[in-house]
Amino acid sequence: MGFGKVGVVGLGTMGAGIAEVLARGGVETVGVEVNDTALERGRTGIEGSTARAVTRGKLTEEARDEILGRITFSTDFKALADCDLVIEAVPELISLKAKVFAQLDEVCRPDAVLATNTSSLSVTEIAAATSRPESIVGVHFFNPAPVMKLVEVIYSERSRPEYVEAVTALVRDLGKVPVTIGDRAGFVANRLLFGLLGPAAQLVESGVAKEDIDASLKDLGLPMGPLTLMDLIGLDTCLEVLEAVHADSGSPRHAPAGILRKLVGEGSVGRKSGGGFYTYERAGSGTVVAPVEGTASAEIAESLYGPYLEDAAEMVRSGYCTADDADAAMTLGCGFPVGPIAALRERGAWTD
Ligand code: CAA
Repeated sequence: MGFGKVGVVGLGTMGAGIAEVLARGGVETVGVEVNDTALERGRTGIEGSTARAVTRGKLTEEARDEILGRITFSTDFKALADCDLVIEAVPELISLKAKVFAQLDEVCRPDAVLATNTSSLSVTEIAAATSRPESIVGVHFFNPAPVMKLVEVIYSERSRPEYVEAVTALVRDLGKVPVTIGDRAGFVANRLLFGLLGPAAQLVESGVAKEDIDASLKDLGLPMGPLTLMDLIGLDTCLEVLEAVHADSGSPRHAPAGILRKLVGEGSVGRKSGGGFYTYERAGSGTVVAPVEGTASAEIAESLYGPYLEDAAEMVRSGYCTADDADAAMTLGCGFPVGPIAALRERGAWTD
């Protein structure tokens, strides 16, 4: 089973990135948005990202034109009628997702695979809201989608195994690394990552300087500090993921900090709005206004990193994923220099 034509519904940060990945992989892609303004924002995002690659000498103008030529844009769901696969990437509201899948039910071929890029909702719950739950698969990309190599492929109790295998094969064909797992809040990467990001936000609330927290984790070799990373992901998304993981784990470490709720309530949702934990020179920019150099502390680093390693050990012991999956998730999905199980081995705290 191959996917010659793939639709993407929702062209926000993740949807636009996913459409770019598909088109770069040679797949004919259809991007659908609710209205012309959102559609134009998505198109501009993809054009900007590929233009940057041309400026950096990573793409020729010819290759860029070919990539953009593979994407068609529409505000009409009927444009998805002949797609082999449709990936939904709309905001994380079950009512909205249910509405999108009801529309997909109407227009898509009966043999089309329908995927959700949800990061916080249950794939099983989304599948239950459709008339064809066996066609639903989770396909979870990481931000920025064109850069991060990991894609989690999630199957529900009802997913048809050949659909899961076909999506896993597509992910591989796109040059990404699939980790295929069952449905559980946070899957592998977010479950582990947010066990570190949630407590980092709690530390800010208890008065620790955000720059010191970020400097401490960067000192361990992480590509970004946890608060900078939350601003990149989007604080609204972070809050949704923490709420979903907290509801499942009950761990106080996953309880969303008040400051996170406050920032989201104010519309300060990170880079995309121009401000979150940090203030950026404009919406969409990663350049911090008046940056302050933080002081790294081994104590802060270990207070966040140690429990994260224990979470990973527990996850592997529970049989939810393999040690290799946990390591791939964190190195390829979040850019950690070493996976958690490999780190535990280095510490002499893991035996296979
Ligand atoms: N879109 C496209 N390409 C981008 C990009 C973007 N938004 N941001 C960076 N890039 C590209 C750059 O063009 C550059 O490409 P080349 O090497 O081909 O020139 C490359 O990425 C590296 O970029 P930079 O040199 O500018 O910056 P960097 O070296 O600091 O790396 C980073 C940036 C890749 C984002 C790195 O900091 C990183 O890995 N951070 C961690 C990101 C992470 O953890 N993501 C997962 C979040 S969790 C999630 O997404 C799941 C969820 O459900 C919430």
